[in-house]
Amino acid sequence: ATIHDQKLERGAGGELHQTASGATPVLTTAQGGPVSDDQNSLKIGARGPTVLEDFHFREKIFHFDHERIPERVVHARGYGAHGYFETYESLAKYTRADIFQRAGEKTPAFVRFSTVAGNKGSADLARDVRGFAVKLYTQEGNWDIVGNNIPVFFIQDAIKFPDLIHAAKAEPNSDFPQAQTAHDNFWDFISLTPESMHMIMWAMSDRAIPRSLRFMEGFGVHTFRLINAKDESTFVKFLWKPKLGLQSVAWNEAVKINGADPDFHRRDLWDAIKAGNFPEWELQLQLFDQAFADSFDFDILDPTKIIPEEVLPPIAVGRLVLDRMPDNFFAETEQVAFMTQNVPPGVDFSNDPLLQGRNFSYLDTQIKRLGSTNFTHLPINAPKCPFHNFQQDGHMAMRNPAGRANYQPNSWGEGPRESPAKGFRSFAEVEAGPKARLRSETFADHYSQARQFYISQQPVEQGHIASALTFELSKVQTPVIRERIVSHLLNIDDGLAGKVADALGLKAMPKPADAAVATRRDLPA
Ligand code: HEM
Repeated sequence: ATIHDQKLERGAGGELHQTASGATPVLTTAQGGPVSDDQNSLKIGARGPTVLEDFHFREKIFHFDHERIPERVVHARGYGAHGYFETYESLAKYTRADIFQRAGEKTPAFVRFSTVAGNKGSADLARDVRGFAVKLYTQEGNWDIVGNNIPVFFIQDAIKFPDLIHAAKAEPNSDFPQAQTAHDNFWDFISLTPESMHMIMWAMSDRAIPRSLRFMEGFGVHTFRLINAKDESTFVKFLWKPKLGLQSVAWNEAVKINGADPDFHRRDLWDAIKAGNFPEWELQLQLFDQAFADSFDFDILDPTKIIPEEVLPPIAVGRLVLDRMPDNFFAETEQVAFMTQNVPPGVDFSNDPLLQGRNFSYLDTQIKRLGSTNFTHLPINAPKCPFHNFQQDGHMAMRNPAGRANYQPNSWGEGPRESPAKGFRSFAEVEAGPKARLRSETFADHYSQARQFYISQQPVEQGHIASALTFELSKVQTPVIRERIVSHLLNIDDGLAGKVADALGLKAMPKPADAAVATRRDLPA
């Protein structure tokens, strides 16, 4: 940066003053009132008390006092960048979404990468899942693909999310540790939640310590639907593939980097984009129909399962390029509000119970975190297409209906109206069943894909998984929790279970955990 050699004047107490002159604007209060002295508060005499009348002082301190907003309840530490999405070919056959109609079309995008469990000031190289949240500012409103760098999740039903996160974050009495060091609560919860085993294999693998945000994959995780102009549905999984390829660090590197430079990942992204090395991802889709979905012995609504890419090769449909850092971290990266409910016409949800729950959670949490129902008025969250509605007022309202009518139908010819042709229509899936708190039997296999993942790894990578489990479980003080985890590992791979049990010094090998044995009835007889 250029150093401006501005004239300095000394005040009576030796303090230095810079005064506005030439092109330098006059400092003002938030109300626009010009300020004469920003070095001294208003006093009675040079050595007297400060007076309450000092509105400039009070406003300045008041505003400072309120600078912090609540950090995200999860994914608190993140880093974002602007860019664009470019569509390769028309996907009109599968979807009516405007973003996929024309080859070569560019759509503005904002992406925020994050860790999950650490707080806002935690270190970048924690062993953790990475958030990969993409906001696409389409011509039919914002589309958020709020994904992770791992294609599956810990739990099958959103009602367990608070428990998972409570167990993963600091313990309520001690307020430590963060998830990068294992602790009893987290592994206790995991050991009692067998559905998490597939995700645990990924989280203990090198995937959870990426070399850089630029070398990560991204996944929408859930099965979604694409809906075409004829209202026909195709199931879809969203995958982001980095042009640079996939790279991780080793655990001992991660530990050293965290100590030497806890901002390693954000610095890497900042430096790359500022130097013109724009990272790029390809959007790939796994597309399938109901018959294909029915051919699996797992359920495509179960977010702890993948559809292997060898079984269903993804097709590339566009690319995402990140080419600009935010001008202001707080205004953009901190205040951006991603929500799974944000989908354009032509993209729809599936009944995945995790996705259904997320569709409530994100809107709710944004109001708490950003403080107002009008968070969509912030430039980073506002659509970049024409938009009109009758919502009004509330805290910090910057848009209100123009004219007389703030309702419809109205006789004044004012304001917008609904459009059956252009508007979002839900896929008319036929639903029936008992109203009860149920989980499908098709969700009951918790080990097959965990095993598949483990055996798909190279020997050196398998070694890393064993070491990670040993390291994490060695921090667990309660023997029965260690044993329970090993009993799950026995259902995944005997060799892995043996290695971990030996390294932990387990006296005897536990029995394998019960696999898929239902012992309770969920419906009245
Ligand atoms: C935040 C991904 C499950 C609630 C996030 C973020 C990502 C993400 C990437 C950070 C967004 C950002 O960068 O601002 C996922 C994925 C999930 C999952 C991939 C499972 C497949 C859930 C569930 C719930 C939930 C089940 C609740 C029922 C939240 C909340 C936030 C959040 C409350 C904070 C949002 C904010 O304050 O901006 N999630 N999440 N997530 N997630 Fe999830």
